Amino acid sequence: MTKTARTGMFVCMLVYLALSTVAGDTPANCTYEDIAGEWVFQIGPGNNHRNITCNNFSVIHKQKVKLIYPNIAIDQFNNRGFWTLIYNQGFEVVVAGRKYFGFSRYEGAVSYCDTVIGGWSHDVRGHDWACYNGKKSTSAVKISVVPKSDHSLKFSHSINSEEMVASINKAQTFWKATRYSQFEGLTNEDFISMAGGRGSRILSRPKSAPLTAEHRKLMASLPQQFDWRNVDGVNFVSPVRNQGGCGSCYAFGSLAMAEARVRILTNNTQKPVFSTQDIVECSPYSQGCNGGFPYLVGGKYAEDYGLVLDACNPYTGEDGICKTNTSCPRHYFTDYRYVGGYYGGCNEALMKKAVYTNGPLAVSFEVYNDFMNYESGIYVHKRHGVQSDRFNPFEITNHVVLIVGWGVDTNLGEKYWIVKNSWGTSWGLSGYFWIRRGTDECGIESIAAESTPVFTFNN
Ligand SMILES: *[C@@H]1O[C@H](CO)[C@@H](O)[C@H](O)[C@H]1NC(C)=O
Ligand SMILES: *[C@@H]1O[C@H](CO)[C@@H](O)[C@H](O)[C@H]1NC(C)=O
Ligand SMILES: *[C@@H]1O[C@H](CO)[C@@H](O)[C@H](O)[C@H]1NC(C)=O
Ligand SMILES: *[C@@H]1O[C@H](CO)[C@@H](O)[C@H](O)[C@H]1NC(C)=O
Ligand SMILES: *[C@@H]1O[C@H](CO)[C@@H](O)[C@H](O)[C@H]1NC(C)=O
Repeated sequence: MTKTARTGMFVCMLVYLALSTVAGDTPANCTYEDIAGEWVFQIGPGNNHRNITCNNFSVIHKQKVKLIYPNIAIDQFNNRGFWTLIYNQGFEVVVAGRKYFGFSRYEGAVSYCDTVIGGWSHDVRGHDWACYNGKKSTSAVKISVVPKSDHSLKFSHSINSEEMVASINKAQTFWKATRYSQFEGLTNEDFISMAGGRGSRILSRPKSAPLTAEHRKLMASLPQQFDWRNVDGVNFVSPVRNQGGCGSCYAFGSLAMAEARVRILTNNTQKPVFSTQDIVECSPYSQGCNGGFPYLVGGKYAEDYGLVLDACNPYTGEDGICKTNTSCPRHYFTDYRYVGGYYGGCNEALMKKAVYTNGPLAVSFEVYNDFMNYESGIYVHKRHGVQSDRFNPFEITNHVVLIVGWGVDTNLGEKYWIVKNSWGTSWGLSGYFWIRRGTDECGIESIAAESTPVFTFNN
């Protein structure tokens, strides 16, 4: 398993502009519009193991695929399959028993959305690995706009200040802010990593899919409140962890989903805590402390490579070469997907159904400064009238967390999600928070990912 080198990169998840050390280097910004169309996949020799590296191979097959918005793929033999965009960074195609995944090419501020270099392909059982390059029949080259002001942006020193906490508490009626002693002395970089990471800004975010009459009926059939930490007195959620100053929230959110789902599947007879460091160091589908995506980590990596227990590579919160103990058994997951079937298909009803039927969901949302000081209540970010907006130095970053249930505050007449964070147990509601539900607050209903454990007999 070799890590792909992607420089100056995107972070905790829905990555956007790298306001990075490498000025002007931005990750790809490819939309459905840019990617949908006719592609030729140029494929290298097959029959390889998953340890294949895809930076230099000779093309021996060609495969044509037509990608139709939002999720239909058709190959040259008229086989119908599936595809999804993965945020704006790349896409996965599944057709005729094979999967193809690669990141869109970019260089500096230019996105070559018509090109994939060094993608991975294998059959749907995870065998017969090959490398591929993809080329779209029509050009989709775009230059990302990097606002000039980005280079001077800094995380505000007002975070965790008395002034900020007081101004939030004056303006907000749904939630309370507090100062955290553990935030004293944290640097600009620490806050940025905690909130999703440097470069994880978003300028235009995805929306959740509209609720149909059928979705409303589905919601009405589910309980008013539900919490995987207390299902008739039984807790199916693993303990809250602390990511520290590494942009690895995507690993914590994804593996928390995996851990809870193993507990649910085995009625708590297995309670694994998986290695987030294995993800940070060893996953070719993510960028270590610079970010990654739940679809590719709790999903694709967990299916293709499997997860190991934390003891096999304990968390250090630092990038490095892969040091996972190779004698450790790997725990596999399957059927990874975005809720709604593809990126953009998600909404409150489908998320509730997925949480209730399958278990907790890895989701991402936009973190603003005021969120750092959340203490209790139903978090909403009011763009206007809240002084904390004035402290907002880096616009929005993207953070990955775990939805474990939902509830309703009848006094306020507000619905909320119950969400597990990865900032330790002394933050928020013993490490959890509530956030407004049903309004796609901070994008939390736009991109939920899940996968299913493969039952194993190794411990
Ligand atoms: C990849 O794995 C296969 C099968 O385990 C092994 O034979 C091969 O030597 C490995 N190749 C590399 C480059 O590690
Ligand atoms: C790519 O592989 C070929 C043959 O395996 C080799 O001759 C060539 O030098 C390699 N190129 C690079 C850039 O590594
Ligand atoms: C990314 O692409 C979208 C759609 O093409 C565009 O609206 C947006 O401004 C782009 N973002 C940047 C940073 O260029
Ligand atoms: C699940 O575990 C609980 C104990 O926590 C036990 O009471 C219950 O019978 C178990 N259910 C099944 C189906 O084994
Ligand atoms: C690696 O894992 C194996 C099996 O779990 C264990 O016996 C061994 O002690 C571990 N090695 C190290 C260096 O931790």
